[in-house]
Amino acid sequence: MMRDVAGDLANFGRDLPKAELHLHIEGTLEPDLMFELAHRNAVPLPYASVEDVRRAYVFSDLQSFLDIYYAGCRVLLREQDFYDLTWAYLTRAAAQGVRHAEIFFDPQTHTDRGVAFEAVITGIHRALDDGHDRLDISSGLILCFLRHLSVDAAMQTLTDAMPYREWILGVGLDSSEVGHPPSKFRTVYDRARETGLLPVAHAGEEGPPAYIWEALDLLHARRIDHGVRCTEDARLVARLVEEQIPLTVCPMSNVKLRVFPSLRQHNLKRMLERGLLATVNSDDPAYFGGYVADNLEAAAAALELGREDLILLARNSFMASFLSEGEKRRHLNDLSGFADQPSLKTTS
Ligand code: ADE
Ligand code: ZN
Repeated sequence: MMRDVAGDLANFGRDLPKAELHLHIEGTLEPDLMFELAHRNAVPLPYASVEDVRRAYVFSDLQSFLDIYYAGCRVLLREQDFYDLTWAYLTRAAAQGVRHAEIFFDPQTHTDRGVAFEAVITGIHRALDDGHDRLDISSGLILCFLRHLSVDAAMQTLTDAMPYREWILGVGLDSSEVGHPPSKFRTVYDRARETGLLPVAHAGEEGPPAYIWEALDLLHARRIDHGVRCTEDARLVARLVEEQIPLTVCPMSNVKLRVFPSLRQHNLKRMLERGLLATVNSDDPAYFGGYVADNLEAAAAALELGREDLILLARNSFMASFLSEGEKRRHLNDLSGFADQPSLKTTS
């Protein structure tokens, strides 16, 4: 009987223990849950059916996606809605080998609609607690500032977050990139770092390599989210390699938002070959058609990645996380144990 080598590799990639480090919780709102919450909260939707929603998910760039993504968030009103959203993600992530997740949330998308910060963070946090207890997924929360809004609004959001400081691991920067450079948020990041929050930032998705330099030098970002445009600047690549600064790459997102014309033209493989600490993540899986293992599978097929590349990407995901050194070691041991199973050895 013929072996299904691609299928074997996909299964291997799905079950590999991994961390997910670039995931917007609002981007996990699947159309069926969107309809359920719209009904529960009596929020009108501009779609007639789940199929209608899926048909609307054709994007020409980041902004065309963000317009639809923010509109979808309008169904999220109560603490239980944020719980249900987060729990749905965690159950999917568990089935894709995720052992640890560092999750973005966008409080301003909700507080600007009159939803209390407390409802947002309490619902998410309660689900993360349950994810730890029932699914054995550890997690951290990263509060993102919407970069198209003002620095004062970001500072106010950071202030609003302080009563929940213990529940938050870091701060991030997302939304419309071009025209909103990291330098705009320097003062907010200074304050966030003073409170011990770990800084990351989206940069070099649609924006130029200069934004990655700013994220590193002005915001002191410990990871760059996306960062794929770094390969346009050899000096920047040399620095990222030298300092092993992680890049949280999201291949399916990059194709859906037309950062690359196709997955075959994605630079992930070249990044790995160059020694960059690249990881694979799903970004907004409900909108881009795949969760983290789906991203690994699609990238492997398009870029001819092999078993060793998938192991490297899983290893990078833990190395790039904010887990303690002891926790990293434990996950890397589990990963080696998984990859060494004799029944999985024949996968090419
Ligand atoms: N918010 C949600 N997904 C995003 C992305 N890929 N880039 C910037 N902001 C986002
Ligand atoms: Zn993102």
